Amino acid sequence: MGAGAIRGRLLTFRRAPIGASGAGSYSYIDDGIVLIGADGRIEAVGRADELAARVVGIPVAQHPKALILPGFIDTHIHFPQTQVIASYGAQLLEWLEKYTFVEEQKYADADHAARNADFFFDELARCGTTTACCYGSVHAASVEALFAAADSRGAGMIAGTAIMDRNGPQALLDVGKDSIAASRDLIRRWHGKGRQRYAVTPRFAVTSTEAQLAAAGTLLREFPDLYMQTHLAENRDEIATVRRLFPNDPSYTAVYARAGLLGPRSLLGHCLHLDDGELALLRDTRSVAVFCPTSNLFIGSGLFDYERLASAGIRVALATDVGGGTSYSMLQTAAEAYKVLQLQGQNLSALAAFDLMTRGNATALGLDAEIGTLTAGAYADFVVLDARATSAMAHRMATVRDLEEELFVLMTLGDDRAVVQTYIKGKPALTPRHRPPPPIP
Ligand code: GUN
Ligand code: ZN
Repeated sequence: MGAGAIRGRLLTFRRAPIGASGAGSYSYIDDGIVLIGADGRIEAVGRADELAARVVGIPVAQHPKALILPGFIDTHIHFPQTQVIASYGAQLLEWLEKYTFVEEQKYADADHAARNADFFFDELARCGTTTACCYGSVHAASVEALFAAADSRGAGMIAGTAIMDRNGPQALLDVGKDSIAASRDLIRRWHGKGRQRYAVTPRFAVTSTEAQLAAAGTLLREFPDLYMQTHLAENRDEIATVRRLFPNDPSYTAVYARAGLLGPRSLLGHCLHLDDGELALLRDTRSVAVFCPTSNLFIGSGLFDYERLASAGIRVALATDVGGGTSYSMLQTAAEAYKVLQLQGQNLSALAAFDLMTRGNATALGLDAEIGTLTAGAYADFVVLDARATSAMAHRMATVRDLEEELFVLMTLGDDRAVVQTYIKGKPALTPRHRPPPPIP
């Protein structure tokens, strides 16, 4: 018997929507119940009338008008950049030096990291994000704080300390500190503990020597179920710098390939300026290109060519990239993804966007049996959305005729205000303290 249940309008995807209607790609139940086990996993999903007998005597969270979906998944976000977000007027390399590297030095302080971890998880919950792939700072304390906060909330995160050994401020560089040994220690402590997983995180080729990239590759061979996350081909000056630093490699992507950093658990942020040979490397290794639209627009990096990458057979995920990105909300991220594709004459349907934020991103992480769908056996991580959350949304909803239009209103006009509740392992993550105070009259 279930320990609890949730009732409302259930939406979950089965596969990526193809074509205009997306027919058969999702399952929608107008009045459905998800039965949740004592272990925080889904026991059953179905129509309320079919499951009514199984919820007698157990608490049922009621969300009659709201949409209940699997929690959103953010596949690229920087934990130590919560006070970098909204930093003015610079492109990538200057932005890193002027704002990011300065801020990230504060995470040497474990108390600072712990306070910010609480803020970070509250903010993710407010936005309906239940799993994220997080870059820490170079300090083990940052990732320790992150995993500890995730674990105490029942959430499953993928994270790793950024490793760097050149082209940054001395305080962030692994000179005589052995960040690979520190990563190994964190792997031992956290990888596979509860829901936590480790990602080897060389920041990008600009800030790592040949030797450090090779050591990261060795670590991945030693623990084949680790993730790898880094940045790739985000900005033209960055690419020129990589060419200068690695003159013998035919391309930026080839630098990572040679170090053994590509593979099905490798997440490459941005992938904006790649040649055909680089696309072939990503495809052949089944690496994941991570589309970060708000960041690409804000830092002025370029437009992600979704159609080109997808038709080359490359796996694609979607992410916020806070604090280069400007919103923690995957809804706002989808809205900007839509606009980036519009500028290139491409489409992102609402069904495709919601699939990507849930099942699609879970599949990119190889975790679709665990998160991203409403299916028996998966964790009971949900986001509950109200498409009438603001006056502008409610006004627009008066003319909406179907589910797909409702989803498009949610992604275009919605943000944290549209999130009624977020559940992690079946438990509400938002309490009244998460809601902003009422406006001053
Ligand atoms: N490239 C290397 N580091 C970073 C970072 O922190 N943010 C972004 N957007 N790109 C990077
Ligand atoms: Zn990033």
